[in-house]
Amino acid sequence: MYNFDEILVRKGTNCVKHDALMENFGRDDLLPMWVADMDFRSPDFVMDALRQRCQHEVLGYATAPNSYWETLQQWLQKHYQIESTREELHFIPGIVAGIAFVLQAMTEPGDGILVTTPVYPPFLNLPQNKHLQLVCSPLHVEDGHWKIDFDDLEWRARQCRWMILSNPHNPGGTVWGKETLEKIAEICYRNNVSVIADEIHADMTLPPLQHVSFSTVSQQAKEISITFFAPSKTFNIAGLSSSACYCANESMRQRFYGYLDGYEIANGNIFAFVGAEAAFRHGEQWLTEMLQYIQGNIDLLKNFLSAHLPKAKVILPQASYLAWMDLSAMGMSHEELKERIYNQARIALNDGTTFGGKDYNCCFRINLGCPRATLQEALDRLVSALS
Ligand SMILES: Cc1ncc(COP(=O)(O)O)c(C=O)c1O
Repeated sequence: MYNFDEILVRKGTNCVKHDALMENFGRDDLLPMWVADMDFRSPDFVMDALRQRCQHEVLGYATAPNSYWETLQQWLQKHYQIESTREELHFIPGIVAGIAFVLQAMTEPGDGILVTTPVYPPFLNLPQNKHLQLVCSPLHVEDGHWKIDFDDLEWRARQCRWMILSNPHNPGGTVWGKETLEKIAEICYRNNVSVIADEIHADMTLPPLQHVSFSTVSQQAKEISITFFAPSKTFNIAGLSSSACYCANESMRQRFYGYLDGYEIANGNIFAFVGAEAAFRHGEQWLTEMLQYIQGNIDLLKNFLSAHLPKAKVILPQASYLAWMDLSAMGMSHEELKERIYNQARIALNDGTTFGGKDYNCCFRINLGCPRATLQEALDRLVSALS
């Protein structure tokens, strides 16, 4: 039903991915394969709902209707097996903001914040901005996906108050299975560490795998966690700033939701409610087709690189569209790789070191959420600049 091959001109629409290249890469003529949104048309059912709301030409203060909460609850129940009450949910403008709010409301200066690296850069930056102690447990690759070293995690958890977990993991799209999440929950519970489960990529878990939501793996996991989720990545509506969170623990909830309400920093806006409700209400077919398309792009990446750049070690996503490439076997320095990728291939890829420092020299993240022809163009350019 949907055409993901369509090439849309996004430049000039004030979008970060295409319009903020100069600030981030020092040149404007790059093929943007970086920031995590997709170059696909946002779904017709979301656009229709927004247009319909615009027919009423008063854009005053908005309140979330019951139908928004019901749709959210149904989605959580169906896709995450979370049975939530209205009190357990709260609107959040964005997940990075939500994580910052948790750190603001529920930590003391110097508290340890545990993350598994390499990881989405704000997980590293937010704690450091708030004078918290960032504690990194490095992941390693096994069978082409990230694995956690549980001895290391346990040892580091002893110094920590919170863990920020990317479930599934960004970068590389590793899906954490139930057993892994149970172990994380046990370690955190034993060491009095609460968990922020960032599940923004959950809905894009690629079949036949299924997303397992952190709070559902055990009673302990449920008690110690706050889970963030959003329609933003799934339906390509990140610009609507519409996310939500779920917390089953009453005292944690009172403190966190009390903070959000007390400072009025998570009230929401008209388009966030309308867009999210339409996405969750009508999104199943679009999501199925979009994931099939993304799987096709992942297959293209895999086949093309193994044929033309066999020294590249790639972590192929099991969820979402963010693959990780380790180019260390190419025999070039990180700086030389950057020079070739940015200035010869003219592709904007995320620099691996921003996901955890020098350990990720020679690594890059590539965003596969684009028409296949765009990906093919990027791969052709990459191979010719690196060969
Ligand atoms: C793991 C993860 N969390 C959060 C975000 C961003 O969330 P938001 O735009 O809601 O702040 C991203 C975006 O790439 C992400 O990958």
